[in-house]
Amino acid sequence: MNRKILSVLVLILAAMPIACATAKNGSGLSSSPEHLSDLQLGKKYYTENCQACHRLHDPSEFSPSDWSRIMVKMQKKAQIDDATKDLIMGYLTTTTTKTDASNN
Ligand code: HEC
Repeated sequence: MNRKILSVLVLILAAMPIACATAKNGSGLSSSPEHLSDLQLGKKYYTENCQACHRLHDPSEFSPSDWSRIMVKMQKKAQIDDATKDLIMGYLTTTTTKTDASNN
């Protein structure tokens, strides 16, 4: 095999665990997405399903517990299944900078 192709492959393989580890950090929530792709999917579903009736709210407008309360209502409005809701929740609660503690 060509040495150049081999070293590119090695680089890609070496970078993969780093991408997943980065997505996991920054939040101790049990609902945190395990992989970067889950976050990207969550964001995609959020933009696809959640701005038909109002503007897209910034994740940091609400804390994780606010989002789970809001999402009960909005899942019905958006008519999305549980898997889609979980991915959207993962995106919102992982990227929000507002904590539950700063909420009261
Ligand atoms: C069918 C229309 C509709 C869709 C689709 C919809 N919403 Fe809403 N949303 C509303 C309405 C109406 C309100 C304001 C009244 C209320 O809270 O019920 C609202 C309010 C909100 C608020 C503000 C809540 C607050 O307490 O200030 C957020 C955040 C929100 N929606 C998020 C979402 C998310 C996330 C989705 C996608 C899963 C979504 N919405 C999809 C109709 C919709």
